[in-house]
Amino acid sequence: MSELHPIKVIINGNTYERQVEARLLLSDFLRHELGLSGTHVGCEHGVCGACTILFDGAAVRSCIMFAVQADGHELATVESLAKNQNELHPLQQAFHEAHGLQCGFCTPGFLMTLVPFLQENPSPTEAEIREAISGNLCRCTGYQHIVDAVKLAAEKMKSTVVSSQ
Ligand code: FES
Ligand code: FES
Repeated sequence: MSELHPIKVIINGNTYERQVEARLLLSDFLRHELGLSGTHVGCEHGVCGACTILFDGAAVRSCIMFAVQADGHELATVESLAKNQNELHPLQQAFHEAHGLQCGFCTPGFLMTLVPFLQENPSPTEAEIREAISGNLCRCTGYQHIVDAVKLAAEKMKSTVVSSQ
């Protein structure tokens, strides 16, 4: 059996300590070890963006990282977005309202790419949105409804900030 390595990682606010093989992919660690199956795996070589998560706040592809690289870091997966079963994150709500998904396989990756994007750029142009999602592949939507959803999300998130002031 391969040597195991201890890791300690914070995911969605919870601390996990596990022993992992050096070659275990971060995406497989999330899905198979921790049951966080909202992170999807499509291409498994860094092309499709389906496995995107936040790593210390930055969007990364978890299929091209090893679990051991997450030791001591803070991650967030799509499971962290909705406050509860009845209250979606504004970005999720916008995807729902603007028909930004069909099969939904790509959606977690789009969402986790877009969370930091909208934090950095709360009023994006259409060109900036298309650039931001250029590393995420969707076989179903033709992208236009995803772009519409991001515009809607930006409006929702701005009005949330205004109404909470
Ligand atoms: S599954 Fe990671 S980029 Fe496609
Ligand atoms: S909604 Fe099916 S791949 Fe994007």
